[in-house]
Amino acid sequence: MAAVDIKKGLAGVVVDYTAVSKVNPDTNSLLYRGYPVQELAAKCSFEEVAYLLWNGELPNEAQLAEFTARERAGRALDPVVKQVIDALPTTAHPMDVCRTAASVLGARHELAEDSSPEANMKKAIDLWAAMPAVVAYDQRRRHGQEPVEPREELDYSANFLWMTFGEDPVDEVVEAFNVSMILYAEHSFNASTFTARVVTSTLSDLHSAVTAAIGALKGPLHGGANEAVMHTFDEIGIRSEESLEEAASRAKTWMEDALAQKKKVMGFGHRVYKHGDSRVPTMKAALDKMIAHYGRPELLGLYNGLEQAMDEAKAIKPNLDYPAGPTYHLMGFDTQTFTPLFVASRITGWTAHIMEQVASNSLIRPLSEYNGPEERHVP
Ligand code: COA
Repeated sequence: MAAVDIKKGLAGVVVDYTAVSKVNPDTNSLLYRGYPVQELAAKCSFEEVAYLLWNGELPNEAQLAEFTARERAGRALDPVVKQVIDALPTTAHPMDVCRTAASVLGARHELAEDSSPEANMKKAIDLWAAMPAVVAYDQRRRHGQEPVEPREELDYSANFLWMTFGEDPVDEVVEAFNVSMILYAEHSFNASTFTARVVTSTLSDLHSAVTAAIGALKGPLHGGANEAVMHTFDEIGIRSEESLEEAASRAKTWMEDALAQKKKVMGFGHRVYKHGDSRVPTMKAALDKMIAHYGRPELLGLYNGLEQAMDEAKAIKPNLDYPAGPTYHLMGFDTQTFTPLFVASRITGWTAHIMEQVASNSLIRPLSEYNGPEERHVP
């Protein structure tokens, strides 16, 4: 039997073209539709980036006004979605809540069975607009709080924070949140996006593809890593009275022990980037601002200690989830809510890929090499 070259994990396999984003591991760069992500994070709102991902170009003023009006009109918590969420235990993982809500929104969508380009664009915008209410309400109900009505005068990020915490958000915090939404929005053929494309390739509908993608994102090797980073910080112990140096030293010891035990430490490493994640410097700058804003230097100590020890031992660099986790923690999000925040952002990238897949579809159906028992017969 000829040896078969198995591409385990599809590592290094190029399966299709995409014009949505370009990841270049050699230069640690990431382009959305040609624009460097750090420029978008510095100069654009998340709404502009969503428009770019879906339409291929940044919006002009009139296009942006029409687009944001559509998003603002779709923010209210769907009453049926609320009923379904209420039927779920408050112990349910927020990613399960998100996944269920995406599915319910699909089943209730007026264009449920229509996968034309116009219908898919409408579904994408509707789902993107609706998800913050789901994520915010789920966090609130776990604290025994009622949902908060959206505010039309606020932009996407400010409204998301408002609906979660019911307080006027501070500009600096809104800015850091906006940056995180932009950085999480798109990353070519990662596991959840590929999942969305596989589902779409069967000519299934957009909500089914997004629901499956949410399932893929939940895992700690993918989106669940931002949550797992915070568990690491908690395991080491966050001590508010501690100096930066003391926290860094404890974190280094923790990392050395973890690596001696051959543990995988979440928030480090990447399938594509081997010399550092292009998004980390921008997110780390946002984290630094939040650490200064909330006056929490001990968190920077833990951050630095883990990063240094990992670099010295294995030269493995942090990925986006590493600075994003503590940033969301400082903002007041529950640790379990971190990955749903990633969902709210990545809906834009997933649906851009879904639309691209529909436009140039071929059923995604790889082969496998059988290594089970030889043919045998029932006695
Ligand atoms: N902690 C400790 N060791 C790590 C590591 C981590 N986070 N990431 C990679 N490594 C080590 C592996 O143990 C392996 O070492 P070995 O060759 O001695 O066995 C080597 O680096 C290669 O790792 P591997 O898991 O084969 O690379 P991959 O490309 O398949 O994995 C990830 C990429 C992201 C799955 C992996 O780095 C990981 O599990 N990271 C933690 C989860 C995470 O943060 N995910 C979010 C990604 S954005």
